[in-house]
Amino acid sequence: MPAAGRGERLGAVLPKALVALAGRPLLWHAVSGLLGSRCVDSVVVAAPASYADAVRNLLAGVGGPLSVVTGGVDRTASVRAALALAPVGVDIVLVHDAARCLTPPAVVRAVVAAVRAGAPAVIPVLPVADTVKRVDANGVVVRTLDRSELRAVQTPQGFAFDVLRQGYALGSGPATDDAGLVERLGVKVLTVPGHPDAFKITTAADLAAAELLLERR
Ligand code: CTP
Ligand code: MG
Repeated sequence: MPAAGRGERLGAVLPKALVALAGRPLLWHAVSGLLGSRCVDSVVVAAPASYADAVRNLLAGVGGPLSVVTGGVDRTASVRAALALAPVGVDIVLVHDAARCLTPPAVVRAVVAAVRAGAPAVIPVLPVADTVKRVDANGVVVRTLDRSELRAVQTPQGFAFDVLRQGYALGSGPATDDAGLVERLGVKVLTVPGHPDAFKITTAADLAAAELLLERR
């Protein structure tokens, strides 16, 4: 679980994963959600530098096998660090943003089920609500993309462990998601339905939306 970001767009004093949501750190919600899906055996958290002990403490009560590693300069480096700590003999791995801390357990289960059924790489996606256009360097529209072909991508992304390991071994520059790395191997990536609640907390408005969502759950 990449949780090592600074959360610059959120603009809090603490790194985003440690910011409180309904009285608990975001990371606490994210890890409880994963374990609550009952199809995750162990979690490796990539923590912000100098916060590894704080992260261990805040997760002490969550239960379930957990390890914490210091993350890297970008998300790709953080995931790479966490992958290095994966337990021996693992056959399926999920990569899940701490910032998507309210992801419903059903989404986690759907991703795991699709990998178990034989897909080497699985990502949860949603249709794109806005019209998306390609623009040039001057901000002039080049063309309008066909929205029916586009998807917004969430996490957890699920992989046969060897496939993701190979994707990271290839390591040709940072990717914005993990499936992007295995696409470069020519591996087929399957999509399953995501969920609006799996949105990424990025800004203060997102944090407020998450508070409301939890009040209504
Ligand atoms: N992440 C990470 N290591 C990094 C950067 C990001 O583990 N060096 C993680 C974040 O903690 C988050 C996920 O990747 O769970 C998605 O990144 P993002 O939402 O961009 O979080 P931040 O990078 O923390 O936020 P910002 O870009 O606003 O600084
Ligand atoms: Mg970031």
